[in-house]
Amino acid sequence: MSMFGGGFGGPGAGGGGALGRGGGLNKSPEGLAFAGIPPELLDGVQKLEAVEARNPLITPDEKFRHVAEVRRPLSLTALAVGRWGLFVSACVMLLLETLLLQAGPLLIQVGIDKGITPRDLPVLIGAAVAFIVSVFASWVASSARMRQTGRLAADATRDLRVRVFAHLQRLSLDYFTSEKAGVIMTRMTSDIESLQNLLSDGLAQFVIQGLTMVVVTVVLFTYNVELALITLLVVVPALTIASLWFRRAADQGYRRQRDAIAAMYADLSESLYGVRVVTAYDRQEQNVVEHRAVVGRYRDANNFTGHISAVYGPGTSVIGLVGMALLLLVGGHMVLDGKLSVGELTAFVLYLNAFFAPVQQLVQLYTSYQQGRAAVVKLRDLLNTQPAVPESASAQPLPPAQGEIVFDDVTFGYLPDRPVLKDVTLTIRPGETIACVGPTGAGKSTLAKLVNRFYDPQSGAVRIDGHDLRDITLASLRRQIGVVPQEPFLFAGSIRDNVSFARPEATDDEIWAAIDAVGLRELVERTPLGLDAPLHERGQSVSSGQRQLLALARAFLAEPRVVVLDEATSNLDLQSELRVERALDRLLEGRTALLVAHRLTTAMRADRIVVVDGGGIVETGSHAELVQRGGAYARMHATWEAHADISSAV
Ligand SMILES: Nc1ncnc2c1ncn2[C@@H]1O[C@H](COP(=O)(O)OP(=O)(O)OP(=O)(O)O)[C@@H](O)[C@H]1O
Ligand SMILES: [Mg+2]
Repeated sequence: MSMFGGGFGGPGAGGGGALGRGGGLNKSPEGLAFAGIPPELLDGVQKLEAVEARNPLITPDEKFRHVAEVRRPLSLTALAVGRWGLFVSACVMLLLETLLLQAGPLLIQVGIDKGITPRDLPVLIGAAVAFIVSVFASWVASSARMRQTGRLAADATRDLRVRVFAHLQRLSLDYFTSEKAGVIMTRMTSDIESLQNLLSDGLAQFVIQGLTMVVVTVVLFTYNVELALITLLVVVPALTIASLWFRRAADQGYRRQRDAIAAMYADLSESLYGVRVVTAYDRQEQNVVEHRAVVGRYRDANNFTGHISAVYGPGTSVIGLVGMALLLLVGGHMVLDGKLSVGELTAFVLYLNAFFAPVQQLVQLYTSYQQGRAAVVKLRDLLNTQPAVPESASAQPLPPAQGEIVFDDVTFGYLPDRPVLKDVTLTIRPGETIACVGPTGAGKSTLAKLVNRFYDPQSGAVRIDGHDLRDITLASLRRQIGVVPQEPFLFAGSIRDNVSFARPEATDDEIWAAIDAVGLRELVERTPLGLDAPLHERGQSVSSGQRQLLALARAFLAEPRVVVLDEATSNLDLQSELRVERALDRLLEGRTALLVAHRLTTAMRADRIVVVDGGGIVETGSHAELVQRGGAYARMHATWEAHADISSAV
């Protein structure tokens, strides 16, 4: 049994068949993606919903605007310092944490020199107790700091996610044509995640380790300038050289890693979206081989960074240990000469160790810092990408439209030097239905896309009621234009959600009226869930004819002033086509319409037909006029008639 019973599609339409038996969203049988919430999870989901309803952080309070607000460019500093209160208190805690952590060796020195050597038990106990207190205090400071940086990171990345998402919504179609979905996904997932890691712990660790090195250096010098100089002179140059090398190598390795991750996501999303074609052409093996190559490059990049870390990490340990041995020799000599106490030498050795631990940490942190910085650069580029179809700051809302559409000497191409339409001039009167016909690739869909400003012409202008489309707000324009694209898109969600997409506040009666108009009532009624029947991701569970009808119902419900239909009836059987054409008559009544038509039966019903070919309009007129004229349309018509004769003869 198919989702819509036997009449439409077939049982093979994407697994929708099983839905009929479910009897309720939550009772859907297993194995169906997006078919509802499994009963065992229902409790949890309800609890979560109750929490979300109370939590102001989760309520969507963002408003979408086509014009981006002017904001500070994205940077790590802006993100970290963006929340002053949290940032300052985290810094204070950081300082406290670092100082407390370095109290240990000092207290040991006091214990040895003032407690053990002079055999003064109370001092020894005092030092030990102070040590324990400092450890606990640093624990408190450190957990407070982690809570603050954690919140800082969570808040900052949440805002960033929304900001990037809003910007993606703002960008024009050309961006999504040129940028792979997988790469955009990488920006939103792994890039933002690496930023979150960096903000929640990385940066703080950076500060702690850096501060520790400063504190330790100061302490070493206060203990004994000579010894401090000797040690640092031996250790620091070697360390600097190693670190500079590592920095260069890590930069390169990290760039390779980022590119490889993006390539991996891109490949994955392509093969997921194209799964039908892949299966049909049995390309799985080839795909696996290709994916293996892509994944292999990621592995190589990981190997490379692993390799350089493996050289650098142990290398710095060696430098540190050699330094320590030297310290024992030189410092021990000083103790023998009475220039240094045993406690001081012990503290010295411990501090030198404390000097090296941060270096090791910084190695790891450098990578995560690099990741975060690279993510910021990529996200900043994305946020700086301007929509190709911008809303001008002075744009006015379009008043309720009469629906006159004028193409005034319009030239447009997707690539600057390759015009698809050249000097096209056309006036569509209010209420008129224009059908656009022509060979494949002629530019019919392109003409349709210019009407609701998916793209701007390179020269000339498109006007509605005399307003240049560039001078009116995008929201007001698109609210008044109903579009059924050549490949309609349905979202994962119910039939109701999909039909009421343009007017979410529509009542059930209105939705049913729209469904009636496209002749889907019977089919929707046949599913037990009716309007709540789920449509799977991208509408895969319905046939393409049904997708077209649902998209048409969506346009119906929106009650636009202007209707743009691209091949609205191309995937329908004859009976449904007739039904849709009747529906179209109702939809188009009193509205301006641009129909891109492959079927001449659709074209014939229009008030006027324009024939697009070779980058321009070659003929305009009613069906009868054009047939009489004996031009391109007449030839198309003759071919069609001959074909229809043959079909009816068979
Ligand atoms: N996003 C794009 N980027 C670059 N070129 C494009 C893009 N979309 C379409 N084209 C090119 O523009 C030309 C016109 O395309 P269009 O989609 O308008 O054709 P059409 O007349 O609607 O064809 P069909 O009847 O097959 O739907 C084609 O040559 C096509 O290759
Ligand atoms: Mg087309």
